[in-house]
Amino acid sequence: VNAQRWGVIGTGTISRTVVSDLQSCDGAEVVIVQSRDVEKANLFAEEFGIAAATGSIEELLADSSIDAVYIATPFATHHAIARQALLADKHVLVEKPLAMNAAEVEDLFALAAERGIFLMEAMWMKFNPAFRRLHAEIAAGRIGDPKSVRASFGIPQPPAMESRWDIARSGGSLLDQGIYPVTLAYSVFGAPLSVHAAGETREDGLDLAQHFTLEFSEGRFAQCASSMTTFYDLSAAVSGTEGWIALPGPFWARTKLQVHAGDTATIFHSPMAVELEREGNGYVPMLREVIAAIRAGVTEHPVHPAADTVAVFRILDAIRGQLVAPAG
Ligand SMILES: NC(=O)c1ccc[n+]([C@@H]2O[C@H](COP(=O)([O-])OP(=O)(O)OC[C@H]3O[C@@H](n4cnc5c(N)ncnc54)[C@H](OP(=O)(O)O)[C@@H]3O)[C@@H](O)[C@H]2O)c1
Repeated sequence: VNAQRWGVIGTGTISRTVVSDLQSCDGAEVVIVQSRDVEKANLFAEEFGIAAATGSIEELLADSSIDAVYIATPFATHHAIARQALLADKHVLVEKPLAMNAAEVEDLFALAAERGIFLMEAMWMKFNPAFRRLHAEIAAGRIGDPKSVRASFGIPQPPAMESRWDIARSGGSLLDQGIYPVTLAYSVFGAPLSVHAAGETREDGLDLAQHFTLEFSEGRFAQCASSMTTFYDLSAAVSGTEGWIALPGPFWARTKLQVHAGDTATIFHSPMAVELEREGNGYVPMLREVIAAIRAGVTEHPVHPAADTVAVFRILDAIRGQLVAPAG
């Protein structure tokens, strides 16, 4: 089988991290990189041993030998670039958040389905070994009935991370950080019956921090928080009627978990500690599965399908709708 030919759009921080993992995967080859600045694209290509570089997304997409693209630009640009790529019949992997709201996400998945093309948000957390083990333990009944999720992602963003402070680029904590606790909560409980959120918003509407409770049937709930101005404990836990599972921080990137379940001594004093392997920079498990899904000819991935992505964005939209902009 020929290796898939991948193009990369954007040469920022995450692109560097993911491209080296993509290059370590069998079945895919990164053959071209795009930057808005062709000189930057050339340097990136040289550093990573990529054969071609371009200053133009249109040029990259016009090349019919390219099978798939990875989009790693600020998230306000994702919808437009992903749409362009789908219209050029490229399979598309887009950094999280896939787009700005549920309507944009639905639009992209409809287009991908219509054209028979693979589309996925690069929600790597769901492919991480600790996350999968968490769900395997829950499914095996280890903690009884899961009743609550607690998860937070608060890390002050340095002023130098300009795009994070710019509402027109990747500005705002909810879509950058809050998406992880929401995705975790949804993965355990599905869609909430109600959402209660509050937070802090900059004068221009940029959301700086939020805390929220998602409520589900039978008293089940998720309590979550995210912030780009202060630390919130980066761990998460899923608790049930017979124990709980702790994911040490940063919970979205971990290969470790602790299962507090079984007899009393185990629950309180010596939880089962699980440590799993980290592959590459941590993105390899996701990339391997994306490559296989594209090869299999499916349009979405069962681990992070369209329906889940849309449902998470509906929750994000509901949270955002409750964050009040400061007066004046
Ligand atoms: N999965 C993860 O662990 C993870 C971690 C961090 C970030 N992310 C996500 O990845 C995406 C990119 O994040 P990042 O930290 O890499 O962001 P970034 O460094 O601010 O931007 C990434 C690149 O996008 C390109 N770009 C295109 N249009 C741009 C514009 N209008 N302004 C600035 N840059 C533009 C730039 O590359 P050129 O100059 O070459 O055009 C830039 O280097 C975001 O959606 C973010 O949420 C994911």
